[in-house]
Amino acid sequence: MKFFIDTANLDQILEAKSFGILDGVTTNPSLMAKEGIKGADNIMAHYRKICEIVDGDVSAEVIATEYKAMIKEGVALSEIAPNIVVKVPMTVDGVKAIRYFTENGIRTNCTLVFSAGQAILAAKAGATYVSPFIGRIDDMNWDGMMLIQQIAEIYAIQQYDTEILAASIRSSKQIVEAAESGADVVTCPLDSIKGLFYHPLTDIGLAKFLADHKKVNG
Ligand code: G3P
Repeated sequence: MKFFIDTANLDQILEAKSFGILDGVTTNPSLMAKEGIKGADNIMAHYRKICEIVDGDVSAEVIATEYKAMIKEGVALSEIAPNIVVKVPMTVDGVKAIRYFTENGIRTNCTLVFSAGQAILAAKAGATYVSPFIGRIDDMNWDGMMLIQQIAEIYAIQQYDTEILAASIRSSKQIVEAAESGADVVTCPLDSIKGLFYHPLTDIGLAKFLADHKKVNG
């Protein structure tokens, strides 16, 4: 399973990269706004900086909602760097745009996916990634991980190439569950990635190893 970090914060991307396990970055308009990035030129420049930090895929989301405008914006985003993946919302125009991008060699991430039916449409249109939003489904008191399992089963049966990117992850536990459920990629906040490192028995075990070593070696 690939690990993406879900942020537009450059320091966090650098920190995640330093762990040696980072495969890519996802962003969205809310995450860009959180960093105070505004204006088309600044947004493009920020994506360029992210692409200079990571070799892996960087999802950059279109703001346009109408087909022709999506195409124009997506093409411009794809020209920033070879590792840009154009993120497109799951709408009728979005699916049409994904088909266009697929036919023109531009990779895509179909975002805001909340059902298996939407995931089938994304795969049919040729999306590189499909992004089911796990946390937001859980917020509605439904089961986000069940959706990952369902999509994984359908994609295996139908032999779709689209990769399942588990998004809206809010905890380390959900990362493990996404891996169990058949996600190809998980995108998550830095804290959720960092949470995977720690276990009290590791700390206790390491302290004992070092204490025993010191007893003999001084
Ligand atoms: O990748 C999509 C993700 O950023 C949404 O996360 O926590 O806003 O539901 P959240």
